[in-house]
Amino acid sequence: MNIRTYPDPILKKKAEPVVNIDGNIQRLIETMSKLMYQASGIGLAANQVGVAKRVIIFDLNYREKGTDLTVLINPTIVLAQDKIVFEEACLSVPDFRGKISRNRYLEVRGFDRHGKPIDIDAEDLTAICIQHEIDHLNGTLILDRVSHLKRNLYKRRVEELLRGAH
Ligand code: NI
Repeated sequence: MNIRTYPDPILKKKAEPVVNIDGNIQRLIETMSKLMYQASGIGLAANQVGVAKRVIIFDLNYREKGTDLTVLINPTIVLAQDKIVFEEACLSVPDFRGKISRNRYLEVRGFDRHGKPIDIDAEDLTAICIQHEIDHLNGTLILDRVSHLKRNLYKRRVEELLRGAH
């Protein structure tokens, strides 16, 4: 498995809820965390490794691999407050950054990798990261949250690169 990049169609797909947190999901989580740390990312959604299931992981302290990893299965935002604008990047959208407005405070519920219900209060970068990853589960990329102009410039750049590669 590898990290899929735009325009891979899996990134536009809405991920399905996880019904059984079984061995397949454990293996998926292992693969996702390995790839996230390899790429020095702070978060990853399952669609980014080609699996359309509602699983996200994040670790704001990614430099100390594995010490602060959060796994969130079937995440639901139950509370979102205030706004914050931050320049985001995405492992699936290489060489792109965009200023995006998100909620600053968030309460999220879901399940951990053992199936235990979890409730997370997040703010600032953690809240931004969780919203970014839940966006992935809904088939939304940071490209979809910037201006048409900025999006089209990036799309054209990628199309030209792909043409050049053939
Ligand atoms: Ni991303």
